This record gives sequence, C-alpha cells and structure tokens, in this order.
Amino acid sequence: MKIAVLGYGTVGSGVVEVLDVNQKLIASRAKEEIEVKYVLDLRDFPGDKIQEKIVHDYEIILNDPEIGIVVEVMGGVEPANTFVRKALEAGKSVVTSNKALVAKHGSALLKTAREKNVNFLFEASVGGGIPILRALGSSLTGDEIEEIAGILNGTTNYMMTRMFYEGANYEEVLREAQKNGFAEADPTADVEGQDACRKIAILSSLAYGRFLDFEKVYTEGITKITPEDMEYAREMGRNIKLLGTSKRVGEDSFYALVAPFLVGKNNPLHSVNGVFNSIFVHGNMLGDAMFYGSGAGKLPTASAVVADVVDCAKNKGRNIMMSWSEEKLDLLQIDDVKSRFFVRVSGHAAERQSEIEELFGKVEIVAVPSLSEEFAFITGEITEQEYREKAEKLDGIQSRIRARI
Ligand code: HSE
Repeated sequence: MKIAVLGYGTVGSGVVEVLDVNQKLIASRAKEEIEVKYVLDLRDFPGDKIQEKIVHDYEIILNDPEIGIVVEVMGGVEPANTFVRKALEAGKSVVTSNKALVAKHGSALLKTAREKNVNFLFEASVGGGIPILRALGSSLTGDEIEEIAGILNGTTNYMMTRMFYEGANYEEVLREAQKNGFAEADPTADVEGQDACRKIAILSSLAYGRFLDFEKVYTEGITKITPEDMEYAREMGRNIKLLGTSKRVGEDSFYALVAPFLVGKNNPLHSVNGVFNSIFVHGNMLGDAMFYGSGAGKLPTASAVVADVVDCAKNKGRNIMMSWSEEKLDLLQIDDVKSRFFVRVSGHAAERQSEIEELFGKVEIVAVPSLSEEFAFITGEITEQEYREKAEKLDGIQSRIRARI
C-alpha cells in the first residue's frame, strides 16, 4: 500500500515516524507493507531523508494510481477540504486529524466516501491518541448513547489544572503555557472553547447518528475563570473543568454545550489533570464508560492516524459503515437547557440567604474564609432562561459557572 502525507508538520512527521519505527508490526496487522511514497509540503527539507519524497504539486498524488490512501494532516478547512474531496472522488481513502475539516464538511465527505466505496476516517481529530471514535463506531454499537461529556482540550485543561493547584491567574498561566509550548501564540480557538466545540460536534454526530452543526453549539471559554472561583472549588473539594457535553433529553431532543463547569468529586472527570483528555460516555445498556489518554501531541495523534491507515488498508474496496448520517441533529435552544449554577454574590450569607432562596428555592451555600465580603450558592437544576430571569432580580452577582456535582 502506497500512501501520501499532506503536510510535514508536527503530526505529519509523527506519522512518518510511527510508520518507520513500527514498520514490521504495522505490515503484519495491515497484511501488507505501508510505504509513504509522497509528502506534500510547501517547504523543502534539505539534508532530511524525507526530501526525496517531498512534492509541491497535489496533482502528482491525485494522478498516481499507486496511491491508495491520502493522509491529510495540514489542518485548516481549505485547501484541506478540496484536497480530501478530490482524493475521495479519485477512489482513494482518506485519513485526517483535522477537526475543523471534519466538523464542517464531515457529512459531505463521508457521503462521497460511501459513494466511491472508499473510507474517510478521522480518529485523531478528537482526543488525539484516545480511540474514542472507534469505540463509538464499532464497540458501543449495542447501545443507545444518551450522554457524552468530555475534557476535550489539553491546552485549557493544563491551564485550569495550574490555576486550581497553584492559585495562579488566567493571564499568568496563559503566558507560561505559551512559553512552554503548551499554548499557541494565538490561543483563541482553545481558550474560547472553539476547539472543544468542534470535537463535541464530531463525537455527537457519531454517537447520535445525525450531523450536529458545530455552529449551533452554545460555547463559552475559560477566559473569565478567576483564582477566586478556583478557591471556592478547592474549598468544596470540587474542581472547575472546561467540558464539551451533549445529552439526549427526549426521543428526538438533544442539547449540546461547551462551557466551564464546577464538577464534584464523584464526577469521573474531576481528577483528569494537565494536558490529558478524557471522554465520559453513558449508554442505555452500557451505563458509564470513560476513555482517558493523551489528547494531543505528535506521536499520540500520529498513532491514531496510523491506526486509521491500517483500517483503510484492511478494508480496501469496502466502506466501513459510520453511523453519522446527513440528517441534521436538532438541538434545544440554549434557553431551555437545564443546569445547576454556582453563583458568587457580594455580602454575607446570613443576611442574604432568604432573599436568594425566595428566588431560587433551596440552595447550597458556600463560603471561603479568605473572601469575607462575598459568598456563593449552588442552585438546583433550572433552565438557562430561568436562571437569567432570576439573576436579573438579584443584586451583587459577581460570576456564575454551571455545575455538575
Ligand atoms: N489545541 C488542541 C488541544 C490540540 O489543546 O487539545 C489537539 O486537538
């Protein structure tokens, strides 16, 4: 099997390395040798042995009948989408790690793959090296998936972990994460939740069998989380995590949400720290399951890409069924989604509890000794709209975070 790799960046060079280091093992599993024939990149790599495979013109790959699999690891929506579409139309299978591409064009690309009897696989696009899409597609097939909640972004989980354990503030940890290479120079996609949003859309499309448009997913990032919020969480033995969540709340009714959540000790995502990712899945027969591992990085991501390449090689001439259809998944309006809310307010609990409970009903009161001019409360489950209407009537709200405790 001869393959082409589009993009010789971190993941692309990782794919070449995994195929090289585990060559024999991979050949025995794929039942044939897998050889990288071309690497497409704008750059040249003089002195590197990859240089002999470098091409700058995609047409060379497209028109070479020997190439059975194209690995797209360039990132970004274009030209990746055009390259992938053309490869599928030419009867080549495609493997990608590109969540922006899959979230936006996954439905159309899967359809083309089906029509051409080839495969479009994207395990590495969510959770890096964690085999979560394969689990959803081929292991949990006896279940109706009812809920997914995941720590889907390593950068923000690293930052929040440091904020939690060191009491550091957001700007400080971001600067340090950028210095250490854990955060991009432009961290917007990570810290504003956009990366997690695409990943929960991909997971949900596979789990519920209908296309979830990421642009419809209400998304909040971590930029407003403060050391004081973390202090409350520590005081309560809880934690704050950026979660990508989606849930079936009726026969044909779903919600999806990306936001920081206060999570309790018994929540399996509570202690997932650092750059690790973890995905919690609830199935109607399975009950709870958790998938944990490296959500990013050169070799974990490349490992997932290569696993897909092996699957493509083993399934030549056969489209692997994916439950993701073109039918759209309708979401509840965010106003109708129910959550509990952790709310910080000014003043003293002894003086304000009755006013708060008149509005919100019975609440859990939380105080932190070092924050003497404020306290917090946690509501029962209410809709976003109910929360907003009640919050408008309460003076002195300093912040609110959704809670799963
Ligand atoms: N920026 C992403 C993260 C990379 O931090 O998780 C992996 O998709």
